[in-house]
Amino acid sequence: MAQLVGVMTTSHVPSIGVAMDTGLTFDPYWKPLFDGYGPAKDFVRDLAPDITIVVYNDHGLEIFLDRVPTFGVAAAPEYVSGDEGWGPRNIPAFKGDPAFSWHLIEHLVAQEFDLTMYQELQVDHGFTVPMSIAFGGRSGEIAAWPTRVVPINVNCIQYPLPQPRRCFKFGQAIRRAIDAYPGHERVMILGTGGMSHQLQGERAGFMQPAFDRMFLDQFAPNPQALIDLPLGTYMKEAGHEGAELIMWLVARGAMNADINEVYRHYHVSASLTAAGLGCYVNA
Ligand code: DHB
Ligand code: FE
Repeated sequence: MAQLVGVMTTSHVPSIGVAMDTGLTFDPYWKPLFDGYGPAKDFVRDLAPDITIVVYNDHGLEIFLDRVPTFGVAAAPEYVSGDEGWGPRNIPAFKGDPAFSWHLIEHLVAQEFDLTMYQELQVDHGFTVPMSIAFGGRSGEIAAWPTRVVPINVNCIQYPLPQPRRCFKFGQAIRRAIDAYPGHERVMILGTGGMSHQLQGERAGFMQPAFDRMFLDQFAPNPQALIDLPLGTYMKEAGHEGAELIMWLVARGAMNADINEVYRHYHVSASLTAAGLGCYVNA
């Protein structure tokens, strides 16, 4: 069977990608953030995943407010970085694994997660920035990604969003599907988004490090405390976009009850976002 070898979780701020691509990682504003990414890259290199499942949300590149799936899984042979206003990122296309994707889709639907499925999909910063943090690959740096990918998107844009508990259960269903795959692939899950931030309205710029630190502290030993919080609490305490943390809970749901935190990094702020990162393995 395929094996879940580890999880990385990280914020997915678009300007982190722009900073990488324009050579600003040693700039005094960005250096403290990027300094924290080195050990995460080492962790991912050692995991050597054949397949990386990227749990992210689309921010209006492919999914508009008129049609918003709650959960979607892609099964394309290839995914490219779309143009979000800075031009498409100059990074290699991401190779998919349609056989593995269709296996996931079949198993998730059989487990009563009624999905949207994509046979074509461009990916935005929610996907590409975490991939660059995990594998390197700023503009022009690598010729090919060292892993195949499966994009899984979660609605974090248009109310109502799925509840934290539902996202955790979605992760549990993903894990059962991985375990049932007949291959011997090493699978990593990349959970993206968060930490605290709000991009619009009266509270634009809102960040709350105390909530973020509580989330990071509970994530490995006590996820129950996090899935018991209603979505409204995330929006109030972490900001509207801070509720993207529900995608970290998808990744957590896929892991064993007992896990080890291998590495953690937290920095305030990157653009309008408190930026968090974690690396985890099953105990
Ligand atoms: C920012 C953060 C996000 O998560 C996002 O999707 C867009 C912008 C920001 O802080 O600029
Ligand atoms: Fe986002």
